[in-house]
Amino acid sequence: MKLTLKVWRQRNANTPGHFETYEATDIIPDMSFLEMLDVVNEDLIARGEESIAFDSDCREGICGTCSLVINGIPHGGQKGTTVCQLHLRHFNDGDTITIEPWRARAFPVIRDLVVDRAAFDRIIQAGGFVSVSTGGVPGANTIPISKDDADLAMDAAQCIGCGACVAACKNASAMLFVAAKVSHLSLLPQGKIEKDRRVANMVKAMDAEGFGNCTVTGSCEAVCPKQISLHFIARMNRDFGAALLKGE
Ligand code: SF4
Ligand code: FES
Repeated sequence: MKLTLKVWRQRNANTPGHFETYEATDIIPDMSFLEMLDVVNEDLIARGEESIAFDSDCREGICGTCSLVINGIPHGGQKGTTVCQLHLRHFNDGDTITIEPWRARAFPVIRDLVVDRAAFDRIIQAGGFVSVSTGGVPGANTIPISKDDADLAMDAAQCIGCGACVAACKNASAMLFVAAKVSHLSLLPQGKIEKDRRVANMVKAMDAEGFGNCTVTGSCEAVCPKQISLHFIARMNRDFGAALLKGE
């Protein structure tokens, strides 16, 4: 395959960025999108030019590190797929592809396609944990949890913290991410003790980081590689209201 790439290049957060055009040649359709960028970078380095900075780690859809907006869609628009698991067979020979970083005030660009997502870490620090001893596996297995709650908690726990939901939202809202984190802990007995404090503190931290509010457009759910449901936002709003009534 031969592809034309329009890639966002930006030296740092204080320098304006711009699109640069690159030709990617001899691309194998079974390559992942990130492997294609590796090939482009090897070519740039061989020519003495600066390689394109982009984030990746596991490359198997579980760590949440990869973060590219491809043709205007975070993670590239294949349902339930992170960009590291996106393969070039979904594109056509001769395509022109635009590649940009996540765009949100709370995610400043560090360089090229890499953004700073430490705001998510600070939200987790505000409440995304349990403070009780959860014991070993045998102990955990003796705590009865209904199948419905266990399933729902596992659905929420699939969130990998990638931030695509923020990048897709016109308000740069982080509510899908926060709702998933709040729900997966609060649905389980070990997480119920801190349920009210957790949701109040995490929502407060989310607002302080400059993320916008949810206006229920559903763009977050549409691009989420783990298909986290909007229902978790409704659940978080209910939990948040209850926490406020209890004085949190
Ligand atoms: S909710 Fe989905 S899109 Fe948002 S951070 Fe979690 S996995 Fe990524
Ligand atoms: S690199 Fe880990 S999810 Fe994509």
